[in-house]
Amino acid sequence: ATGLITLDDGYGNTGSCESAITFIDGEKGILRYRGVPIEDLAARSSFIETAELLIFGSLPDKEQRDEFRDLLTENSSLHRDMRKHFDGFPVNAHPMSILSSMINALQSYEPHQEFDDEAGFRRAAASLLAKTRTIAAASYKSHLGQPVTYPRYDLPYAENFLHMMFSVPYRDYEATPEVAHALNMFLVLHGDHEQNCSTSTVRMVASSQANLFASVSAGVNALWGRLHGGANMAVIEMLERINEGDLTAAEYVAKVKDKSSDVKLMGFGHRVYRNFDPRAKILKEAADSLLDSMHVTDPLLDIAREVEQIALADDYFTSRRLYPNVDFYSGIILRAIGIPKDMFTVLFGIGRTPGWIAHWKEVHDNPGQRIYRPRQIYTGEPLSEWVPQGERP
Ligand code: SDX
Repeated sequence: ATGLITLDDGYGNTGSCESAITFIDGEKGILRYRGVPIEDLAARSSFIETAELLIFGSLPDKEQRDEFRDLLTENSSLHRDMRKHFDGFPVNAHPMSILSSMINALQSYEPHQEFDDEAGFRRAAASLLAKTRTIAAASYKSHLGQPVTYPRYDLPYAENFLHMMFSVPYRDYEATPEVAHALNMFLVLHGDHEQNCSTSTVRMVASSQANLFASVSAGVNALWGRLHGGANMAVIEMLERINEGDLTAAEYVAKVKDKSSDVKLMGFGHRVYRNFDPRAKILKEAADSLLDSMHVTDPLLDIAREVEQIALADDYFTSRRLYPNVDFYSGIILRAIGIPKDMFTVLFGIGRTPGWIAHWKEVHDNPGQRIYRPRQIYTGEPLSEWVPQGERP
């Protein structure tokens, strides 16, 4: 499709493009990547296999899997001169600002950003996936004032990220199978989600024929907002506030219902899902089993369950079709793994990178693709004339 098509899903959402990547049925709570149900992928697939499904359109065979894994390994390290960019950030720089800046800076160091064949695209996709993980871990280490930990070439993607985050010169971090599975599942569940705000941003920028790195950097910035990817951090802050005794769960929910408070129930509601977000169901169970396997409890999980129970028994929320979304339980998992709160949205961004790459390629490959150029309804002043300064009211 080269023009814009208008679909209306009955909730006032109008469609703006065709895509073959992800299917969502908001009424039935269905989510499929390239036709494969999210439940199957979350339970049985690795993040990188899911990334290959999203980016290249099918589950990889062994040869494709090995070749892509080698590309990830070969492209995990940053150019030595990129360290200067890291050293330029203040120690308290938000990791999302570092992520979007460094992905944008990659254009200057990557030989792959302009490619004219599938092999070049595979290299660029592997490079961006690998380096997004390296940049994220390095931003955490820089924040701590610790030396950057280099990737190990014997570890799968998720385990390698945890190694780069938590290993120190005197002790290597080894992820338990349960922690590795929980992080893999988290990343798989964030892989793609149709025309959400950040992915639509990537498509918008891609439609001007901007390169992959510039387009994804724009997507990172869109994801940062509290109403989008920033919500996973806001949910934990909401639960912490209740846990600190500032408000009970019931009082917090009551505050949300009081329109004058302008307080939202973070992690609740979705523009498309109107009964439940399938990812929230999976993440709720995963949070439970991870904490059980670690033999730890988290008061915030108990509070999250209490808030959910109160809200779902209240027709203020059910009448507005507001249910837990992907962000409501995801932070509990990241907390249990030891990821600091201000890195939560970065983890969402790592998970969403395959989706952004796939959508960039879909726009890039679309024959006759036209630049996205939405129109508007003008609500400004009627025709008026220029008036000399001395005669202005
Ligand atoms: C993500 O699009 C995607 O696919 C996104 C995502 C992805 O994978 O990419 O799924 C990831 O961004 C999930 C959403 C994370 N954000 C939050 O959890 C923030 C809290 N949620 C809300 O801000 C809101 O629900 C949105 C942003 C998610 C959706 O906003 P909509 O569809 O514009 O909803 P709306 O503002 O039209 O709300 C309709 C009504 C309003 O009340 P009335 O005016 O009818 O009285 O519901 C109310 C809203 O005030 N409402 C909420 C609410 N969400 C909507 N009231 C309290 N708490 C909330 N969370």
